[in-house]
Amino acid sequence: MYSKEDHSRFFKLSKSLLDNKDIPNALEASAEAQDLHDVIKYHEWRYYIQNDPVISDYEYDHLFKRLEALEAAFPDLISPDSPTQRVSADLTSDFPSVEHLTPMLSLANSYNAEDLQDFDAQVKRFVGLADDHEISYVVEPKFDGGTIALVYENDLLVRGATRGNGKLGEEMTNNAKVIRTIPLKAAFSKWGLKKVELRGEVLIRLENFDKVNKKREKDGQSIFANARNAATGGLRMKDPKEVEKRKLEAFIYQLGYAIDENGRDQLAQFKTHHDSIEALGQVGFKIPVDGYDRKLCKNIQEAAEFCNYWQEHRDEYPYEIDGMVVKVNDLNLQEEAGYTSHHPRWAIAFKFKAKQATTKLLNVEYQVGKIGSITPVAKLDPVQLAGVTVSNVSLHNEDFITSKDLRIGDTVLVERAGDVIPYIVKAMDDLRDGSETPIAFPKNCPINQEEDVELVRVEGEAAWRCPNCTCGAQSLQKMIFHVSKSGMDIDGFGKAYVEKFQEMGWLKSLADIYRLDYEAIAELEGFGKRSAEKLRLAIDKAKQNPIKHLLQSLTVHHLGRRASAILAGEIGHVLELKDWDVESMTAIKDIGPVLAQNVVDYFSNPSNIELLEEMESLGVNLTQTPDDKKAEPVEGGTLSGKTILFTGSLQQMSRNEAKKMALDNGARVLSAVSSKLDILVVGEKAGSKLKKAEALGSVEIWTEAEFLEKVG
Ligand code: IVH
Repeated sequence: MYSKEDHSRFFKLSKSLLDNKDIPNALEASAEAQDLHDVIKYHEWRYYIQNDPVISDYEYDHLFKRLEALEAAFPDLISPDSPTQRVSADLTSDFPSVEHLTPMLSLANSYNAEDLQDFDAQVKRFVGLADDHEISYVVEPKFDGGTIALVYENDLLVRGATRGNGKLGEEMTNNAKVIRTIPLKAAFSKWGLKKVELRGEVLIRLENFDKVNKKREKDGQSIFANARNAATGGLRMKDPKEVEKRKLEAFIYQLGYAIDENGRDQLAQFKTHHDSIEALGQVGFKIPVDGYDRKLCKNIQEAAEFCNYWQEHRDEYPYEIDGMVVKVNDLNLQEEAGYTSHHPRWAIAFKFKAKQATTKLLNVEYQVGKIGSITPVAKLDPVQLAGVTVSNVSLHNEDFITSKDLRIGDTVLVERAGDVIPYIVKAMDDLRDGSETPIAFPKNCPINQEEDVELVRVEGEAAWRCPNCTCGAQSLQKMIFHVSKSGMDIDGFGKAYVEKFQEMGWLKSLADIYRLDYEAIAELEGFGKRSAEKLRLAIDKAKQNPIKHLLQSLTVHHLGRRASAILAGEIGHVLELKDWDVESMTAIKDIGPVLAQNVVDYFSNPSNIELLEEMESLGVNLTQTPDDKKAEPVEGGTLSGKTILFTGSLQQMSRNEAKKMALDNGARVLSAVSSKLDILVVGEKAGSKLKKAEALGSVEIWTEAEFLEKVG
């Protein structure tokens, strides 16, 4: 239907039309309206037919509203084929067409509390209520799946159909029948109802969506970009057995039509939307739960609060939702408010800020990490995602770029969900116009280009690494890590300080951190005597750290917190590690060969030894401290031979004190509940560990007081 050139032309055209604001003269308006017709139709086709939109709903709405505005200013522009003049897009012809009992309209959109206030004011105007009158609303999720209409006659499911263009839908009764949450029989007759039509949405629970995709990947099938595509695609499959595999579920959100034996409209008997939904729940339909994802609100402010709540918590919801729907609760009021040609006037969608957007990949830059890993970072044409502007996203490594076939100049789909860091979902390859260039992952270090250092890639690892650990960029990262919480934990010494001091030429190696000139620091803009003194105290304190902290802050690959603590327990002085080989090191429990090799490599490099000696001469502790010693149970204590574990929050001592007491009394402290555990000491709010221990039956359960009594 659309050629390759069309894709890229329409995409570019839409983006440029989005910038238009003022109403132009009649001639320009006519040309722009024509462009808007074309692009809106294109996006409707991508959305409804292809299930693969290239612009966000927000952008689509913007284009649609712009066309409405032009048509309002120049009514001559309204042609019968204008997208504003019909309910929705074309149908594909795979399924028989059926007419809905009443048209399925769409919803107008709102984006914030202010829009909702306007909506509330408009409803009042329409039904002739005073401004200060409060209307109660029901708020429920705006499910992002495939819309369905179900017809029941004499209590039996007789028809299932998709929304289609709103008037005509595609009949898919057999597919509806395999959806377990759709009852085949429901007792509508107890309300004297002969024929009803329900509206709802078919969805895949997100955890099932992951399973479906994993299975497809395993079977060599293409994976779905999102749960909506999997659900809508699922509804239109030819073989109901295949539909069943998608584990679809249906939520019902509306009773659209209800007549009794005499053909009389019976919708009004439920009085409110809330009651009608509850009634549907009673006869076996899956509905949003009152008080959880559905709320009866006494006014629009409360409705807005509930919308905002779910905007913040959407990632906790087990299904894909793209907003909330706010509906006038009173069915009489609904009827009074009525409909426009597109939407009910008594309901509005509250759209969440888009999680996905398309934008251009402008360039790729490279960053070096603390162990020399080279990370490619895509520079994007800045784009709004879930309320923040995104212009950089990590491309992780070379394989990521190759597997997604990303090219510079590509239009890419970017996603940011909840707290997750934004990432590129895919390149929109049908928008390519041939000007895109492949991303050539560098062979030499892209940071320090003067020296021509060849990158290396260790077998089995994804990252290319620069072996030149003396380069400024890499040592900057090493120093940032060294002073951070996960390293020497130097209070108040953050990234910005490290960068500043390096820029001043004061920091070249880790040792320099311990010979800073505090008087010079006090003179720096924004510092002063007090902050310089604070820094001095923090650094002096860190110099006394146990050696496990020092080991972990040297940025030896794989030498993290746990391994550092284990090694620290084995040595009297850090430089003893010079004399260890891989074999002796792997003899220690939990130290693997890869880590051992890395440690041996580090300590056989003379410049590292020099560095450590220099640090020691500057006062950094390299000798094992009591804190580094292996925690061995004391022989012959009252708990001798026993294993113990603490859970919940202890009131009279810290966790560490408790462990120490246990060791001093001969017990071994475990970290998980298993059949090896003898005693579980429970503090307040103990959770799963207590349950598990109780289930095992073999574990003695002590309170904190009992423990203290036993150890005296
Ligand atoms: S009520 C006449 N409620 O949103 C009012 N629609 O733009 C009809 N949708 O495709 C809609 N969740 O399938 C309503 N709780 C909800 C909904 C909902 C999702 C979908 C609906 C339609 C679109 C309307």
